[in-house]
Amino acid sequence: MNEWLHDLFRDRPWWMNAVMVFCAWMAFVYMPWDIFWKPVSQDQEVWFGIIFTGWSAKLLAVPHWIVYSAAVYGFRRRRGWMGVAAPIYTAQVAFGMFLWPILQYGSLLGLVLGVIAAVPFAGLTVAFWNARDHFAHERQAHRDKYGDWAVVTGASSGIGLAFARALAGEGMSIVLTARREEKLREVADELEKQNGIATRVVVADLSTQAGVDAVAAAVEDLEIAILVNNAGFGYAGRFDKLEAERLREMVMLNCMAPMLLTHKLLPGMQARRRGAVIIVGSVSGRQPLPLHNVYSATKAFDLHLGEALFVEMRSEGVDVLVLEPGSTETEFQQAAGEITHAGESPDKVVAVALDALGQQPSVISGWLNWLRANVASRLVPGPMVVHVAKHVMEVQTPSEMR
Ligand SMILES: NC(=O)c1ccc[n+]([C@@H]2O[C@H](COP(=O)([O-])OP(=O)(O)OC[C@H]3O[C@@H](n4cnc5c(N)ncnc54)[C@H](OP(=O)(O)O)[C@@H]3O)[C@@H](O)[C@H]2O)c1
Repeated sequence: MNEWLHDLFRDRPWWMNAVMVFCAWMAFVYMPWDIFWKPVSQDQEVWFGIIFTGWSAKLLAVPHWIVYSAAVYGFRRRRGWMGVAAPIYTAQVAFGMFLWPILQYGSLLGLVLGVIAAVPFAGLTVAFWNARDHFAHERQAHRDKYGDWAVVTGASSGIGLAFARALAGEGMSIVLTARREEKLREVADELEKQNGIATRVVVADLSTQAGVDAVAAAVEDLEIAILVNNAGFGYAGRFDKLEAERLREMVMLNCMAPMLLTHKLLPGMQARRRGAVIIVGSVSGRQPLPLHNVYSATKAFDLHLGEALFVEMRSEGVDVLVLEPGSTETEFQQAAGEITHAGESPDKVVAVALDALGQQPSVISGWLNWLRANVASRLVPGPMVVHVAKHVMEVQTPSEMR
């Protein structure tokens, strides 16, 4: 608990923490009560010094709720846009506090009360403006923070390839592993030429114990700074139509390989008191997914494993992150036997992960995916979520596999 509180409040001046706590109170307690429970007859909202009552106040409470929720997120994650949004919002409140008493009482009394009420918010506006660089912080390069070598599993295509390119772009040397040797050699050549880094190619089938052991043995002489457990595949269809052997391979690759490789490489990171483990999960791991039944279960495993390790390893100097992409344009859909559909670019997904590493236990790429995952799993009854998910999956699954 202490560790969590320390994490929550570190890196921010006390007064900003106080504003963040106030925003959290408004977003999670006061505004929901105001919107859903407070009688319309008692509703009052002040925007730009103008008082709204009744239904107009009820309606205007919704943007207020959005503002406070966005502010909690912006403070917590130090989003760059807060550097402008926070002073603008507090300036609006200062203006409102100045105007409100003048409209209420008029004359000199209103003016005096207006100035008294506006001063604290004007002060806050100045403080936020002066502290705007706090939100525009440059993230430390991963090589400086964690070390020289990264292992990327499934580096021959898609998200793994994008991870390898991004980390090599930061000057890290990369161990590239997957089954297709030719592709891995092409990637290694490209990364070496473009970034002047070293690479090591390890051809291994990570759905077997021998493959996991081969990767572990091939990196024994290196100080691995970042392990990206990315290799994985999906398998779309009704459970009784899926081949048991392929399902076994999927559980081995998606669950066992990340667990075993992490177990092998963590002690070195702990001894150096620096390092990072990324596990590529999926938004599919957020709820049971009919027609991607075993796949979504493997990704729930990845999510739980990674989020638990995030907390366990925090005090050991090792950062752990679960990346949860939604549909991404890679070879995944073809390998899973899905009907092709649009998705995000792997580069964007990887940028989201590398930005979130060290800040939070898991990250969902794309705000629409975030909304789907959180609104569905937290606000809608479980059985209903699963039925809706089945309809979505039906569109993506060939009829003979449904
Ligand atoms: N694309 C999406 O929509 C999406 C969404 C959510 C999560 N994800 C997750 O993202 C990760 C990467 O997938 P992707 O989208 O980049 O798909 P991808 O383009 O198909 O890449 C999968 C990678 O895994 C490797 N791989 C597959 N089977 C392997 C095995 N038995 N042993 C070793 N390597 C193996 C593949 O290389 P070889 O074939 O050369 O072995 C390839 O490099 C997966 O964990 C997936 O579950 C993807």
